[in-house]
Amino acid sequence: MRVPLVDLRAAHTEIADEVELGFKRVLATSSFIGGEEVSAFEREYAACCALPHCVGVANGTDALELALRAVGVRAGAEVILPANTFVATAEAVARIGATPVLVDCDPRTHLLDVEAALAAVTNNTAAIVPVHLYGQLAPVERLASAGVPVVEDAAQCQGATRYGRTAGSWGLAATSFYPGKNLGAYGDAGAVVTTDPTIAGKVRAMANHGSVAKYRHEVIGWNSRLDALQAVVLRTKLTRLARWNLARRAAAARYHAILEPVDVVRPIVLDGNEHVWHLYVIRIPGDGTPHRRDRVLARLAAAGITAGVHYPVPVHRVPAFTHLGYPAGALPHAEAAASEVLSLPLYPHITPRQQEFVVDTLAAALAQT
Ligand SMILES: Cc1ncc(COP(=O)(O)O)c(C=O)c1O
Repeated sequence: MRVPLVDLRAAHTEIADEVELGFKRVLATSSFIGGEEVSAFEREYAACCALPHCVGVANGTDALELALRAVGVRAGAEVILPANTFVATAEAVARIGATPVLVDCDPRTHLLDVEAALAAVTNNTAAIVPVHLYGQLAPVERLASAGVPVVEDAAQCQGATRYGRTAGSWGLAATSFYPGKNLGAYGDAGAVVTTDPTIAGKVRAMANHGSVAKYRHEVIGWNSRLDALQAVVLRTKLTRLARWNLARRAAAARYHAILEPVDVVRPIVLDGNEHVWHLYVIRIPGDGTPHRRDRVLARLAAAGITAGVHYPVPVHRVPAFTHLGYPAGALPHAEAAASEVLSLPLYPHITPRQQEFVVDTLAAALAQT
């Protein structure tokens, strides 16, 4: 039996006819950039987040950069973010010419350590970026006391809530619709969602050559627009997001139950969170190096199971960011997580049989390593 990390083909099979009809609509109008499909998606995604504004952009990294620029982050400023994240979070900060200030993660949830983030605030801090990793929100409400803008990285949490609120409802959030996300396009796509019409206007102008109306360029912008074909896919999938997230939740509960007797650390859900299980991340107890985890990964792969590692290197140890000067050991929880985390296959269409096969194979691999 083969079990992929994510099965995009199964999702496509479910929606293929609807997507084709939508593509035909776009082809009939030749409205490839912007137009009614994009506007409709923006309205529908804003409604899904219970927020007044959504601006579709080209990808999640641009969404983060645009959101940071919109709240006034400029070259030379500091932006606080977790070391345990995808490198794009830091990239968006660095592309502005601002300095990423990396903080450790909570060792149980792997989310931003809020106390460490608050302690890192200086007079030069322009924003904090909590990352809602693996499908659950970080305790974003506790960052308000910092008195600086909070830009949520919501790439991995479409449909998740914290105390009933979605990412973006504390101010603004940037999201990615990379194909493997809970709401994924058929290419690159992203969005900024916000409560603030001024922020939404700034993002929209910057993402469209700095123009507020045709040929009126008020600021130097760039081209980061969502295209209509991606909007068709996203609209089609959005009608299924709640159901697919429920299926993910059921699959996560199944893993939780059948992993009980297995010697791994299972993920936990923070109080107040509705988790949408973008990833099911366990920890393989090791010796401080990734060797045991990597041997388990190899044994799973040999049995036809693709597991993942999110993420194998914390941002401060990634070559592109070593110039920031954090030594090994500086952020110990993020470094320990990088050696031990392993993401099991999880997607809405995974079957109980596939999950049992994954856990049986995992248990056998652990016994042999
Ligand atoms: C946490 C996080 N932030 C940012 C991004 C960047 O999104 P994109 O790949 O759409 O630029 C991703 C997605 O890959 C992500 O997982």
